[in-house]
Amino acid sequence: MGWEPERYLQFADERLRPAQDLLARITLPAPGRVVDLGCGPGNVTRLLAGRWPQAQITGVDSSAAMLERAHLALPDARFELADIGQWTPAEAPDLIFSNAALHWLDDHPALFVRLLELLAPEGVLAVQMPGNFDAPSHRLIREQAATPAWAEALAGARMGAVLDMPDYHRILAPHCRQLFLWESIYWQGLSGPAPVLDWLRGTTLLPYLAPLTADAQAQFLAELAPQLAEAYPGNAAGTTLFPFRRIFLVACR
Ligand SMILES: C[S@@+](CC[C@H](N)C(=O)[O-])C[C@H]1O[C@@H](n2cnc3c(N)ncnc32)[C@H](O)[C@@H]1O
Repeated sequence: MGWEPERYLQFADERLRPAQDLLARITLPAPGRVVDLGCGPGNVTRLLAGRWPQAQITGVDSSAAMLERAHLALPDARFELADIGQWTPAEAPDLIFSNAALHWLDDHPALFVRLLELLAPEGVLAVQMPGNFDAPSHRLIREQAATPAWAEALAGARMGAVLDMPDYHRILAPHCRQLFLWESIYWQGLSGPAPVLDWLRGTTLLPYLAPLTADAQAQFLAELAPQLAEAYPGNAAGTTLFPFRRIFLVACR
């Protein structure tokens, strides 16, 4: 899947806000080793380094393009090219922080318990993931991909998934001293002629565009654009409200 850091960063402020809210809920005074799992272009890694300047910070991501951008953003941090599903730290981290990444991985029951077990004693796993897979934006992409014109080419495309909150509680609570679960809806006011389409092109649409030729990509986007514009109309001031539900968990070993 071809992540494009510049396109992703078009909405850098909006994408950073949930990470700031998650970070605010972590009470660790001085973690020695902090890992940013699925660090992307390094914006969140920079937040972590700012909060704990003495910590050893490591960003982990499977996209070389994202890691290149992260190196530029934070030359003093360590970065590792790795798949989270197979990643094992050299030394146990005190904090594993993951913003908007783990929904791309399967088998959350096994993944989340494994991440908890990788932590140092009394370590913390802090995760934010989108929880809006039933929103019109995401539903319209899936519905269009399932039409006869696209179904064969896009049979393998997936936009990631999360479990229901009670499932995360059931999976994690037996392994935790403390567990905090919550959700927030961010009522994002975006600007531009097709801002929801632009937002989705930086993330959710990537697996749907990747299997297509350039012409087919343009056709897919041209069909999707008016449906998104109808679902998310702009107001007279040029603002398009794009509500986005996100789920959070802080699990303390
Ligand atoms: C939406 S971006 C989030 C980036 C960053 N955490 C942020 O909040 O700005 C998701 C990132 O997760 C990474 N990612 C997705 N699946 C991954 C996997 N299996 N292993 C490692 N990184 C992965 C992608 O390469 C991408 O950089």
